[in-house]
Amino acid sequence: MKGLAVIFTVAIDGPAAAGKGTIGRAVAARFGFAHLDTGLLYRAVGAKGGDPVAAAVGLVPADLERGDLRSLEAGQAASRVAVIPQVRAALVEFQRRFARSEGGAVLDGRDIGTVICPEAEVKLYVTASAEVRAHRRWLEVGGDAGRVLAEVKERDARDMGRSDAPLRAAEDAVVIDTSEMSVDEAVARAISLVAERMEGAR
Ligand code: DC
Repeated sequence: MKGLAVIFTVAIDGPAAAGKGTIGRAVAARFGFAHLDTGLLYRAVGAKGGDPVAAAVGLVPADLERGDLRSLEAGQAASRVAVIPQVRAALVEFQRRFARSEGGAVLDGRDIGTVICPEAEVKLYVTASAEVRAHRRWLEVGGDAGRVLAEVKERDARDMGRSDAPLRAAEDAVVIDTSEMSVDEAVARAISLVAERMEGAR
C-alpha cells in the first residue's frame, strides 16, 4: 500500500449470530481499521418507532447509543424495517463513505460485499448452522431456547428472502463456517486472509 492514504475495506456479511461482530472487531483492532456494525443502523431505525423512512433519513449518531439495541425485539424490528427500500437507500451513503474512508475500514452486515461496497478488497461470508447460532444467542440473552431458535430462523428467512439487497454471499467472498470453530480459530482465519490481501495490495 502507498503512503498513509490507505483505502482498504473488509466486508463481512452473514446471518445473525454467526460471529461477524466478533470477527469484525478483532480484524479492525489488529490492523488499526475503523469498524462499523451496520446492523446497529437498522436496529436504531427500528427502535425509534414511528415512520421508519423518516427515522432512517433523520438518524443521528446518538440514536446508536441506546442501551436496548441488542435485544431480540430490536433485532426483529431491524429486520422488518430493513425490507423497506427507502430505509436502505437512506443508509447507503453513510456506509459507503465509511467503507472508503482513509485508514481502512471493516463493515459487518448483510449486503456489504454485494451492494454497499462491491469493490471491497476482502469479502468474508461468516456463517454457522441455525442451531449453533441460536445457542450462542441464547447464551447471551437467555429465555426460552426454542423461541430463540424460531427467531433466528424467522430473521434468516426475512433477511434472505427480501427483494432489495437480500442476504447472500458475494461471488468472490470467502466463506467461513464457524459452526465447529472456536472464536480464536475464526478470528485467526479472518486475520490471515486480510493480511494476505494487504500483502498483495502493496
Ligand atoms: O446484524 P444484526 O443482527 O444487528 O442486524 C439486525 C437486522 O438488520 C438484520 O436482521 C437485517 C438488518 N440488516 C440489514 O438488512 N443489512 C445490514 N447491512 C445489516 C443489518
